[in-house]
Amino acid sequence: MEILKNYSLKALNSFAINVDAKYFARVASMKDLLEVKDFIVKNNCQFMILGGGSNILFMNDYDGIIVSNNLSGIEILGEDENHVYVKAQAGENWDDFVSWCVENNLAGLENLSLIPGSVGASPIQNIGAYGVEMKDHFVELEAFQWENSKVQAYSYDDCQFGYRNSIFKNEQKGKVVILSVTFRLDKKPIFKTAYGAIQEEIKRIGIEPISIKAIRDAVISIRESKLPDPEDIGNAGSFFKNPVITENHYQSLKKTYPKIVSYKLPDGSHKLAAGWLIDQAGWKGKREGDAGVHEKQALVLVNYRNATGLEIIQLAAKIEQSVKELFNVDLEREVNVVFGS
Ligand code: FAD
Ligand code: EPU
Repeated sequence: MEILKNYSLKALNSFAINVDAKYFARVASMKDLLEVKDFIVKNNCQFMILGGGSNILFMNDYDGIIVSNNLSGIEILGEDENHVYVKAQAGENWDDFVSWCVENNLAGLENLSLIPGSVGASPIQNIGAYGVEMKDHFVELEAFQWENSKVQAYSYDDCQFGYRNSIFKNEQKGKVVILSVTFRLDKKPIFKTAYGAIQEEIKRIGIEPISIKAIRDAVISIRESKLPDPEDIGNAGSFFKNPVITENHYQSLKKTYPKIVSYKLPDGSHKLAAGWLIDQAGWKGKREGDAGVHEKQALVLVNYRNATGLEIIQLAAKIEQSVKELFNVDLEREVNVVFGS
């Protein structure tokens, strides 16, 4: 395995921020990973695992080693009456994996079609879309522990999944390399079409009768109409999480803003659509230099060409301030901000 020096990361992060890594390595086996660990110990440098680079914002050059995850392979482990158990290596592309499941009539992940990134990153923020979260089909994962070089299995409970959250964004942040993830997929599909107009989209594009392939096609079509393609314009999907507020706070906002978009959660709190808040605050389509707010989806910040991480964060800070002033709501960033030195 080669360790490259002064390696450009521009093509490896979906925000297309133009930064370099002091060192860069592609890891395709446990042997490679152990070599990288050796290098880190000898050089006493910082390190970061990179998947598809679709949920990170680099603030500056990375003064350490970026470890690109290239572990590949998909394996059927077994089945029972209703399920098939599939293990995917962490470096597999997420959407290729979803496509593989759909082609093999294995149901469950089709609503998560076209989410960029790797299988290995899917548990980090428990990716979600269109009424499904990764955790709904998660069985376990295997992770390499940097501290002792052991491989440890994490069960569903170990991972502490939440909305765009897990133990890997908290206590275990930066301490492990996720090597593989095992999923439980359904032999008999349970179609989830209530969320985000999937049913209407299926009718509109004339792909009835319903099937997991029809849901995948509908989700892809909805996503392509709303979200900017990182190939055309740099972005990392939703920049912020949808904030959760109390019933009292919600009722007082509702009086002033009768059209506020929210979803009531089982515990009585309300999840607000951050895109609606940012839109109402007048930010949709705004541009400051090469940093901007997407014209169709105010929750997505974009890099028109040469924005720096700092310019994106400065724009994000102004948006946070506006939303706080108008609605008394704190926005939390979904994107992982990486300070390279
Ligand atoms: P990266 O950006 O490479 O890494 C993210 C973080 O995970 C980093 O901290 C990294 O160090 C860590 N990491 C990555 N791989 C590993 C590993 N193997 N072991 C340990 N740590 C690791 N997300 C959603 O949830 N729902 C959506 O609908 C959605 N839509 C999106 C649309 C667009 C256009 C874009 C650009 C992004 C979207 N995202 C969405 C965000 C993103 O796709 C997900 O967060 C995805 O899981 C990131 O995967 P990645 O491989 O690119 O991770
Ligand atoms: N809205 C506006 N103006 C905007 C954007 C949105 O008024 O500029 C309104 C919409 O009209 C809609 C509501 O806000 O009523 C919600 O919008 P949308 O359906 O586009 O979903 P979202 O809440 O903005 C979330 C996820 C996405 C995921 C979609 C679909 C978060 C932070 N984002 O977006 O995930 O794909 O739902 O399930 O939860 C990501 O995490 O990166 C991501 C893209």
